[in-house]
Amino acid sequence: MAGALASILLAGGSLMTVFLSFCLLSFLLILLIQRGKFLYALRKVPYPTALPIIGNAYQLNCSQEDFFQKLVKWAREFGDIYLVWVGLRPFIFLYRVEAVQPLLSSSVHIDKSLEYQYLKPWLGTGLVTSTGKKWHFRRKLLTPTFHSGLLEAYFKTSKEESSIFISCLKKEVNKWFDIVPYAKRVALDIICDSAMGYKLNAQMNSKNEYVKAVEKIASIVQMRFTNVWISSDSIFKLTNAGKVHDHSLYIIKDFVDKVIVERKAEWKLKHDGNFNKPTNKRQALLDLLLEMSHNGTVLSDEDIREEVNTFMYAGHDTMATSISWALYALGRHPEYQEKILDEYNNVIGTADITLNDINKLIWLEACIKEHWRLYPAVPLIARQIYKPIDLMGNQIPSGSTVLINSYLLHRDPRHFPDPHIYRPERFLPDSPKLPLYTFIPFSAGSRSCIGWKFATLVVKVAILSVLRNFRVEALDKEDQLRFISELVLVNANGIRLKLTPR
Ligand code: HEM
Repeated sequence: MAGALASILLAGGSLMTVFLSFCLLSFLLILLIQRGKFLYALRKVPYPTALPIIGNAYQLNCSQEDFFQKLVKWAREFGDIYLVWVGLRPFIFLYRVEAVQPLLSSSVHIDKSLEYQYLKPWLGTGLVTSTGKKWHFRRKLLTPTFHSGLLEAYFKTSKEESSIFISCLKKEVNKWFDIVPYAKRVALDIICDSAMGYKLNAQMNSKNEYVKAVEKIASIVQMRFTNVWISSDSIFKLTNAGKVHDHSLYIIKDFVDKVIVERKAEWKLKHDGNFNKPTNKRQALLDLLLEMSHNGTVLSDEDIREEVNTFMYAGHDTMATSISWALYALGRHPEYQEKILDEYNNVIGTADITLNDINKLIWLEACIKEHWRLYPAVPLIARQIYKPIDLMGNQIPSGSTVLINSYLLHRDPRHFPDPHIYRPERFLPDSPKLPLYTFIPFSAGSRSCIGWKFATLVVKVAILSVLRNFRVEALDKEDQLRFISELVLVNANGIRLKLTPR
């Protein structure tokens, strides 16, 4: 009896084993077919010689500077499109308007690449990192925060902070120095005052805890974007960078929360009808968010913190990078400094410049746009593909990551003759109009930069302030530049200028 039972159990057991093996094999077969289809879709996209499993990862184990050079070299070698395998993941590089247009004009392909998750502990799912319904809702809600009334307030802030910028730069005259740290601090002061209504004074006090925390977390997140070894959260947390990241996060949260609480109290006082207490403070973005929050029903404090942090992150490095590269380009081409100043003297003269006036300065605008073409502050724009999309005759499958290289896009000789030459005339109002998506310093389409008007204004004010006070020279020749594509475009040696008082 016991023997019969045992043989039934054994037979049942082996049936179960057969069944499980069948399921496993079918599962593997499905995975194999899916992978085959995936690879078939990408068959026409060239890539550098790749090794099994690791793909091109071995070629990417190089300095960030070499990595940038490789991106340029591969574009020259492979033509209109290429990809790089990082393990089993394809990263597809786009730099022809024919590929950029369908991607950026799509209302479907709006998801940021997987690497953006590294920003989430800091930015939560704010405007930069969110997608789907949440992103649509927030984008619609936040677009009016850059309306012209507020721009007027931001303009005043930019002028005030730029005059502090000048007094800091006066300490560096007649010698070579790196402008980037100065540009970072003025950008941080402007964005902090405009976003939170808080005078940070980073320019006068660079040792401020919050300033240091923002700088540290931004550079650590940047490192995670490119270093696969610290992509896993559990490994990252054990590293020194992981600990510094968490500490910085704590300082940032604590600071922003305090500012929100303070501002909320002031705002409540005002809205409870207590207008006797004078509040001559300028309206900041945070005030608008508090108004829109409808007592927490539309936006919670957490939501507000997400967006304030998002603006701080998206605004400070990009504006600092733009100010630095714009001065670099003008330092290499002093004749355009004179054109900008001549126009300034003719149009504005000795009067105090207004928001309306600044838009009349067409040489200033053309020089700034031309520097954005050559040195785009955000050189790579990344998207994760969740539905197949046709890009230049290739059905790019779901699961791919695509990256627009705007540094290369902006140097396409079909749209920019003598593409490596700084020629602001291209952007004068009577020059031929550029086809859409050929020039995208702020990206384009539904996920373009929400702060572009504000950023343009800040960069204009900062550049004018510097030019009116100093003659600018730039040390590195164009062929000596050593580009690095961090989240922003960096020169490995910094951006070294010499300022001579006018
Ligand atoms: C010169 C300075 C700036 C440049 C060159 C710049 C460039 C860009 C680019 C290229 C994107 C698209 C990124 C992507 O799709 O991956 C972007 C998005 C964004 N930018 Fe800017 N930006 C600048 C300044 C600012 C400022 C000052 C703010 C806020 C105050 C800001 C807020 C944002 C936000 C919130 C997004 C995400 C928008 C969305 O996904 O809906 N940016 N920016």
